[in-house]
Amino acid sequence: MPNARIGIIGTGIMGSDHARILAAGIAGAELAGVQDASRERAEALARETGARAFADPLALISDPGIDAIMVCSPDATHHVLALAAIAAGKPVLVEKPLASTVAEARDVIAAETEHGKRLVQVGFMRRFDPGYRAMKAELKGDRLGQALFLHCIHRNAIGPDYLTSDLVISSSAGHEFDIARFLLDDEIVAATVTSPRASRLAPGRKPQFIVLESADGIVVDIEAFVDCGYGYDVRAELVCEKGTISLNPSPTTSLRHAGHDGYETPPDWRGRFRDAYRAQMEAWVASLSGKPNEGASAWDGYRAIRVTEACLEASRSGGKVAVPLEDKPAFYA
Ligand SMILES: NC(=O)c1ccc[n+]([C@@H]2O[C@H](COP(=O)([O-])OP(=O)(O)OC[C@H]3O[C@@H](n4cnc5c(N)ncnc54)[C@H](O)[C@@H]3O)[C@@H](O)[C@H]2O)c1
Repeated sequence: MPNARIGIIGTGIMGSDHARILAAGIAGAELAGVQDASRERAEALARETGARAFADPLALISDPGIDAIMVCSPDATHHVLALAAIAAGKPVLVEKPLASTVAEARDVIAAETEHGKRLVQVGFMRRFDPGYRAMKAELKGDRLGQALFLHCIHRNAIGPDYLTSDLVISSSAGHEFDIARFLLDDEIVAATVTSPRASRLAPGRKPQFIVLESADGIVVDIEAFVDCGYGYDVRAELVCEKGTISLNPSPTTSLRHAGHDGYETPPDWRGRFRDAYRAQMEAWVASLSGKPNEGASAWDGYRAIRVTEACLEASRSGGKVAVPLEDKPAFYA
């Protein structure tokens, strides 16, 4: 079977990272095309990887030399490019979030359903992280009993200038919404959001503290703080009836040196989730030749955006906002 020829739209931090994973070798796939609003950036990555640089995202999507697409451009572009890939009948891995609004996400679901075959995966790569998978597997056994709380921490060293308080919810905490649904096999039905004062080192946005309630009665709390200063730090602890299970820090070694004793903290998500990004790519590529796909579907992307919109409303109103439960369409079963 010939390699699937992958085209990447958006060659910034994430697009370049995915391109390098592909270029380093993923069985069954090759990087065939790259495109970016910055032509120089796309051409530089094309030179580095041997891929073809495209000037226009729609030209890349429709090109007969491209079999599948990765969308790694900014959030606001995701739904239009996902729709274009579906219209071309090509599988597409869309970086999170699937879209910027519930209405846009519904458009993607409608187009994919109308097409009749699943084409969309959302880049919620934490589903492939060995730590989260171990937590999910433990919860499925009966040693710990039922889950009661899920405590989540999402800290970045320093957020980019464009990141507003709302984007801390919609872009950063979106990962937590998906991983809570994934770990708990449950739907979020209510959201409350509060904020401490802003850090004096990042006065333009506030950290967020989010409390979610699940349909089965589990409480999920999320600290989303993108200016913690010391590194990228993601934590999770499931508290159950008979014990708890937590993510370990990602380094496999602990260091004692120069007055320091402990784990190194990676500077950003690429180091922390290196294995997950690679596993996500391998699974997506395998799905291109018909293997079942364990990644997040367009439905999962849609439900994460429903939680996002409830959190944004809760943040504005100060009250608790319901997230309506919906039957999962048979198409996504
Ligand atoms: N899965 C994860 O862990 C994770 C982590 C970070 C970012 N993301 C998501 O990945 C996406 C990209 O984030 P990033 O950090 O790489 O951003 P980035 O700013 O580094 O890169 C975005 C790139 O897209 C290009 N671009 C802008 N508009 C475009 C358009 N219309 N068509 C084509 N290219 C366009 C920009 O020139 C830039 O090179 C975002 O949606 C973000 O939310 C996911």
